[in-house]
Order: sequence, then structure tokens, then C-alpha cells
Amino acid sequence: MSVAAFIEKNKDRFLNELLDLLRIPSVSADPKFKNDVFAAAQFVKESLQKAGADVAEICETAGYPIVYGEKIIDSSLPTVLVYGHYDVQPADPYELWDSPPFEPVIKKTSIHPEGAIFARGSADDKGQFYMHIKAFEAMMASGELPCNIKFMIEGEEEVGSDNLDKFVLANKERLKSDVILISDTHMISMKDPSITVGLRGMAYMEVEVTGSNRDLHSGTYGGAVANPINVLCQMIASMKDENEHITIPGFYDKVQELTVQQRQRLNEAPFNLDEYKGKLDIADVHGEKGYTTIERVGIRPTLDVNGIWGGYTGEGAKTVLPSKAFAKISMRLVPDQDWHEIAQLFETHFKAIAPASVKVKVKAHHGGAPAVVSDSSVGYRAAEAAMEETFGKRPIPTREGGSIPIVALFQKELGSDPILFGFGLDTDALHSPNEHYGVKNYFIGIETIAAFFKHFRELSQQ
Ligand code: BES
Ligand code: MN
Ligand code: MN
Repeated sequence: MSVAAFIEKNKDRFLNELLDLLRIPSVSADPKFKNDVFAAAQFVKESLQKAGADVAEICETAGYPIVYGEKIIDSSLPTVLVYGHYDVQPADPYELWDSPPFEPVIKKTSIHPEGAIFARGSADDKGQFYMHIKAFEAMMASGELPCNIKFMIEGEEEVGSDNLDKFVLANKERLKSDVILISDTHMISMKDPSITVGLRGMAYMEVEVTGSNRDLHSGTYGGAVANPINVLCQMIASMKDENEHITIPGFYDKVQELTVQQRQRLNEAPFNLDEYKGKLDIADVHGEKGYTTIERVGIRPTLDVNGIWGGYTGEGAKTVLPSKAFAKISMRLVPDQDWHEIAQLFETHFKAIAPASVKVKVKAHHGGAPAVVSDSSVGYRAAEAAMEETFGKRPIPTREGGSIPIVALFQKELGSDPILFGFGLDTDALHSPNEHYGVKNYFIGIETIAAFFKHFRELSQQ
């Protein structure tokens, strides 16, 4: 039976297995789900075994385990390493979901007329890495596995992949491959397939601003003693100028400026600003002066408050001058910014702009390097050929705003080209309520991955 026929015949089962995986609430950020995160690892291991892996094991780390699998058919053939993550983001706020986040349902939407699977992790990343296991199973069943295959599926991507570096460094030989396939990004649309060639990096900070040594009556002291929330807001506001340019000294020193031609090419990607605004229900976009939306997301760094708190937020009104205020602030980085350096620049600047009326603490949570991958490697060309075959259209390279910090480490330590072979859409609501993944995306992804293996073997042997 051909790969395509096997996929067709097993469609319902392929879908139901993914739904089972989505029922496991493997939220890595929240210790309350610890057992579920381990259960998801077990599920992945068993799926690899059933698909035909010779090796499928759970590799313990200081945190959540990494599932490793392999099928080596012939050491003279090229080897593909698949990376993905079985952990998911917290589903909060639950009340904004139309159906419970860990009880997947399939519903039609205007963008997915054939149905989309609504569940936390459906697009990020369970639905996407699971396509690789199913493509592997289909290739095995049809006796047509064209390359050796290895899997490395981790459980801490959403919390910074703290233990993956160590695992990669300790297992370089075992992870050796000719290409690394990662399906954890977007395409422009089903009509406009694309392959991601750039990801932003990240420096994630938390700040604490303290005024007086206790909460104060805002009448007795208000106007005379610093309100740390007011001060924090002013400090944050001052970190961007009127052109939305970040004011931290040295912040842009290492930012690679693209040539006019490179920028032109980037902006040739299909993009409709009115549609973009319409889908988000915003009257206007907002960002750094002198750059288009595509550029603001793809090639420019950011500074954003992810959360801010302090003072009284309960029912009714309480008059208080709080003692403390806090914020979580992230910066998306672009080549060649270094997150340790940026975290340091942030800390120095934040302390420098704090008025004498407050004390501040700054800490870096986690970070990661930006990455740019080649759009002319053998792997890229195989991915391009595979997409052209299944979508009937040649994909274009794009640069995305999200981060997969481990990609840069793979480039440096494993020395093979990562291919960001994502099949999701930016409207899939990643990290948001009602996350979903198109059923069609899932199946076309499986088919395209199988096609990749065929093309990669052919192109590697030329
Ligand atoms: N899959 C995403 C990254 C992504 C999303 C890339 C959309 C391109 C387009 C990944 O799971 C993720 O959420 N990454 C975090 C990284 C952070 C925890 C270090 C991110 O981008 O916020
Ligand atoms: Mn992801
Ligand atoms: Mn994510």
C-alpha cells in the first residue's frame, strides 16, 4: 500500500489518537499537572513504538523527560532528526474557552471550513509533532521509509527548555543527523504555503519596585511618598520613544540591518493589512516607525510588558499607596543580539532610571538566541519540493516573530540544518483561549512530511 493510501485508510484512527494525546493536560509551567506531563511523555514513547521505532525511550532530565526514538534502516542513508514538544501552555483563562481546553472538539470555522481541532496544544505543538510520528508510521507500513529517522520530543519548551542544552551536549553522537525537522511554526495560509527561515530570540525579565516599607494610607501619604505602581508605569513608558524605538542604551548595537533588497523580498509575501486588522478587531496597527508589519514582527526587536501587578485589585475600592509593584517584561531579539547582553543592558538601564524614592530589583527569567536558517540547503530544497507537491504551489521563505530558542543551539552543536516545517496558521490562537489546528492542516502535514523524506533522500544522493 502506498503512503497516501495508508494515510487515507487510517484517517479516523490518526485523528483519534491525536485527540487522546490532547486530552492529557501536559502543562509544564504548573506543578499541579506534573503527572500529566509525565503521562504525555509515556504516550509519545508508546506512539513511537507502535509506529515502528526500534528504540523508544524516556530520557530523564532534572526536569521533564525527553522522549528519544529512532529507526535506522541503513547507516549509509541520510538521517532525519525530528524535534518537537509535548508540553503545552497553561489554558488560563478557562472562562474564555468555548469548550474545555482538554476535551478536544472539532468545529468548522471560516478559515477551516473542513473543521479544526479545538484544544490546548492542538497547534502548539502536539498536533504538529504528532504528524511526524504518523508520517513515520505510514512510511514504515508501506515499506517506503527512505531515510533513517530519529525523534527528540521534549517536555519543557514552553518554560524555556532548561534541560535540553545539557541533553543535546551529552548526546551529540546519538543525535547526529543530516537535517533537523521542526514543525512548530506557521505558514502564511493554506493557499500560500511558506517555510520559516527566521525566528526571534528572547530575554524575559521580572522587575520589582519598592516604595515605602509598608502599604500606606493614600490620603495621609499620597502625593508625598512614591507610589511604586506609578513609578513603574513611568519607567516602562520611558523605555520607548515617540517612534516606538526602544531607549535602552546599546539595545540596537548588534541588530543586523537588512539591505533594501532583503527588505523588499520580505515584503513581497502576501499580506493584507486590512484583513490583519479585521481579524484582530483593531482600528490600527502599532509599532516602530519606518517599518512594515511584516518587518516589525520578522526582523525588529521588541520590549513588551506581559503582566503587571501590585496594590489593591479586589472588589470595591480601597485607598492605598502600595509598598510594591511588579512587572514581567519580555524582549524579542533579532540577529545578532545576545540575550545575556540584552538582559544586562536592561538591568543597568532599569536601575539607572529608577528615582531615588524607590528601590528596584531586576531578575532574568530565561532567554534564547534568535535564529536564521538557510533557504538553499538540501533540506530546505527538499521541504520546498515536498510542499510544492502537496500544496501545488512553491512555498516562500518567511521570518516569524516567535521563538524556539533551541534552534540556534542545534545549529551550533549538531551542525545540521534545522528546517522550520510548520503547518499551522497565525490565526490558530496559540497560547490563547480556543487554540485550534485545522484537520486539513494535520493531514496535509503528514503527507508533506512523507514527501519530504523521499525528496531529501533523492537530493542528498545527487
Ligand atoms: N511554537 C512556539 C514558537 C512559535 C510560534 C514560533 C509561532 C513561530 C510562530 C513555541 O512553542 C513558543 O511558544 N515559544 C516561546 C518561547 C519561549 C517560551 C522561550 C515563545 O515564542 O514565546
Ligand atoms: Mn511550540
Ligand atoms: Mn508555545
